Amino acid sequence: MTAVTPQPASIPEKRQSERTRVLEERPVNLDGFVQEWPEVGMVAMDSAFDPEPSVRVRDGVIVEMDGRARADFDFLDQFIADHAIDVPSTEASMAIPAGEIAAMLVDPRVTRDEVIAVTKGLTPAKLLEVVKTMNIVEIMMGMQKMRARRTPANQAHCTSARDNPLQVACEAAEASLRGFSEVETTLGVVRYAPLVAMALQIGSQVGTGGRLTQCALEEATELELGMRGITAYAETISVYGTESVFVDGDDTPYSKAFLAAAYASRGIKMRFTSGTGSEVQMGNAEGRSMLYLEIRCILVTKGAGVQGLQNGSISCIGVPGAVPAGIRAVAAENLIASAVDLECASGNDQSFSHSPMRRVARLLPQLMPGTDFITSGYSATPNYDNMFAGSNVDAEDFDDFNTIQRDLQIDGGLQHVKEADILAARHRAGKALQAVFRYLELPAISDAEIEAAVYAHGSRELIPRDVLEDLKGAQQVMDRNVTGLDLVKALESTGFSDIAENLLTVLRQRVSGDLLQTSAIMTRELQPLSAVNDRNDYAGPGTGYRPSGARWEEMKRLRHVTSAENPEVEVD
Ligand code: 5AD
Ligand code: CA
Repeated sequence: MTAVTPQPASIPEKRQSERTRVLEERPVNLDGFVQEWPEVGMVAMDSAFDPEPSVRVRDGVIVEMDGRARADFDFLDQFIADHAIDVPSTEASMAIPAGEIAAMLVDPRVTRDEVIAVTKGLTPAKLLEVVKTMNIVEIMMGMQKMRARRTPANQAHCTSARDNPLQVACEAAEASLRGFSEVETTLGVVRYAPLVAMALQIGSQVGTGGRLTQCALEEATELELGMRGITAYAETISVYGTESVFVDGDDTPYSKAFLAAAYASRGIKMRFTSGTGSEVQMGNAEGRSMLYLEIRCILVTKGAGVQGLQNGSISCIGVPGAVPAGIRAVAAENLIASAVDLECASGNDQSFSHSPMRRVARLLPQLMPGTDFITSGYSATPNYDNMFAGSNVDAEDFDDFNTIQRDLQIDGGLQHVKEADILAARHRAGKALQAVFRYLELPAISDAEIEAAVYAHGSRELIPRDVLEDLKGAQQVMDRNVTGLDLVKALESTGFSDIAENLLTVLRQRVSGDLLQTSAIMTRELQPLSAVNDRNDYAGPGTGYRPSGARWEEMKRLRHVTSAENPEVEVD
């Protein structure tokens, strides 16, 4: 008799386990994930279609780069070869094996300057080859040493779903007290911009002065607000990694370099913006990996003579976030910006995941080593008020963020602030804006509106404004040529001399040009702090920036900390 093979118990095709059902319902499964597709650029950093590194110099000119002869250069190749790469040292630097350059980035005993002496001669494909050898921890090790400013900082988004200037003034005052060195806004209705940018500028100087402000708009208006001193810096000057996408925006590296010079001519701080995923999202990645194209953007920024870059995918984070090793590539792009001596405002500024765990994991590669700006847009409002399309970290996350800083003793630039201090600052910002609007004969702000804005979580709790009247007022601000100095005068004449003084100090920086230095911010003592007077001197254990002294004491405070001496009592 032949043995009968036992049949397996049948598994009904449709039945799902309870375990699977629970997993299916986890927030992470609302995120989108796609397979790699290198032919169209849907690949983070490891593509067979990226060029091999190469360089050839003849008579002081780069005649071949990454396998392409000069005659075949597109405008990015040409701009990079002529303006970003150090021609005298390039052949020697390119001869160093990628793994050895990566080891220099990681090794604390190799100084930042020694690394830059090599990276300044590298082509895009070589920089890509270097970071391809690095895992996420090595990328973080590199960032710890390579970020430009010794002291890390942070940037906030202060926006309102109703473009309410009063809300933005209150948010800016609170963000400034919480520690953000830069605060920026953008609009739903662009015509509201002059009033909202004024509100941001005034609110940011309440409580802690010296905060720098930005209003993200189309380039001509952004430049005009900067020139007038209604904003203090510019950031959303976009550059792209393929010629076709660049031209789509009616731009070239040369036009962007010209715009950068316009800002510099007035002593206005500025940085470019780029990030992995933009080219594939805009439909023309020319079959290259996201990171290869981003490295071209980084080098265009360098070549334009701009001091810094907002990168880390930024508004395109969903694209690298959806492919394998995408978040590693995003950390690598931040590292490369720092490794070529640019200030890096390192993203974490757009919602990309429904999963709280993924949101934190995406943040740590910048928060743990420290960057010039850990987030280039922490939402100081609830997510629904964020007009930059939501951030990776929101107002509801303040206590978590401060606790992570305290747990790991890492400085993300923020601190816990007592509610009474926040309410006082929000109130004072509201009163100052009310006084300035009255002084400039703009639509009135009532005490009841201020009361609502001081205590509100977001715009849903505000008293609605007469939008048409506000828009007329906004137009008047432009027509009457209101400047930052007019705001100083208005504040001074209405009893807000301290805010006037803070704002004047910020405006004065454009005369000295100190904010043009790499990675410049202003301290709470209203002094410029940059890679010139606060150079990153990390050289291994026990060196570099570590939270200590008064700053560490401040970071130890949280909303609820129990007294050791008297467990019944919470310390303040
Ligand atoms: N590449 C280039 N520019 C970007 N921005 C955001 N993400 C990117 C990116 N990946 C710029 C755009 C946008 C603003 C918020 O920042 O100009 O409008
Ligand atoms: Ca930003």
